[in-house]
Amino acid sequence: MSKIRGTQGVLTLRRTSLREFLKSRFADVDPSALPKKAKIIGHIALVRFQDKGINPEELGKAVVEFYPTVKTVLRLRGIVGKLRQPIVELIYGDPNTETIHKEHGYKFMLDVSKLMLCLGNSYERLRTAKSVRPGEVVVDMFAGIGQFSIPCAVISKPSKVYAIEINEEAYKYLKINTALNNVEHIVEPMLGDCRELTPALGRVADRIIMGYFGGTIEALPAALSAIKPEGATIHFHELVRRGTGKDELWKKVSELCLHLGYSATLINSRIVKSYSATREHVVIEFKARSMVYR
Ligand SMILES: C[S@@+](CC[C@H](N)C(=O)[O-])C[C@H]1O[C@@H](n2cnc3c(N)ncnc32)[C@H](O)[C@@H]1O
Repeated sequence: MSKIRGTQGVLTLRRTSLREFLKSRFADVDPSALPKKAKIIGHIALVRFQDKGINPEELGKAVVEFYPTVKTVLRLRGIVGKLRQPIVELIYGDPNTETIHKEHGYKFMLDVSKLMLCLGNSYERLRTAKSVRPGEVVVDMFAGIGQFSIPCAVISKPSKVYAIEINEEAYKYLKINTALNNVEHIVEPMLGDCRELTPALGRVADRIIMGYFGGTIEALPAALSAIKPEGATIHFHELVRRGTGKDELWKKVSELCLHLGYSATLINSRIVKSYSATREHVVIEFKARSMVYR
C-alpha cells in the first residue's frame, strides 16, 4: 500500500486484492477458500470463507491490517428470510456491530448483526434519488433502514416521503436515520405491512418505490391504489433468471396493471446487480395511471 499526500488529504493506493494479500499470509491454505473481497459497512468488514484450515481470528486480524478503517470483522454465513436478516459471527475486533455507513452525502446507521445494507445497490439508490422532482410525494413501500427514503429526501426536494417498514428492528433505524440526516420534516416512518398501509394513504403518490424481491408483485395492487389520479412513476424491483432481461417480468407487471384498470407505460429498466450464479436483480421503472380516474 502507498500513500499520496495532497491538498485534499491522504489518498491511499492499494496495489493488491484482499485475496492476494491473504494468500501471502495463509500460504498453506487453498486460495479458493479465502475471501475474495470484504463488504465494508462503516467500521465493519464482512467476509465469507470456507473452513478448510483457516483460523478465523487470524483471518480477521489480517483483514483489519488490509483495511485500515476496519475495527470489527464478521463472518457472513448468509442472509435469510423475507426480512433479509444476516447470519453473522464475530471473528475479530471490537464486538460493537452498530455502525454508521456513509454514501453519496447521506448516512445509514444500522446494526450489521441484525440488518443488512446492500452495497451493490448504492448506484441505484443515488439514481433513484436523483429522479425525484421537487415537491413530489414518494411512497417507499419496503423502506428498510431508509435505503431509498433517505437519499431521496437528502438529495432531492420531495414534499413528503412515506417510508413503510414491517420489521421493528429496521423501523427503529429508519427513525434514527431520518433524524441523523435531518430529514424529519420530509420522511414519515410508518411501521407495518405496506399492503395494508399504502392503500390507507389515499391517492397521494407521484412516485412509488418497491425495493424488494421475492414476491414484489403481491404488493402491486396496494401500490396502484395510492397513485395520484394523474398517474405515478413506479420503481419495481425483482429477481429474474440471469440473461433473461426484464421482458417476462414486465409482461406480468403490465398485464396485472391492465387487469386492475391501470395503464402501464415503460420508462426504462436496468440490471441493478448480479444476485447469484443464476439470478439478477432488475428494476423496471414505469408510469402507471388509472383508466377510471381521469
Ligand atoms: C431487501 S430489504 C430492501 C430494503 C430497501 N428497499 C432496499 O432496496 O435496499 C426489504 C425490506 O422490506 C421489508 N418488508 C418485507 N415485507 C414487507 C411488507 N409487507 N411491508 C413493509 N415492509 C416489508 C423487510 O423487512 C426489509 O426491510
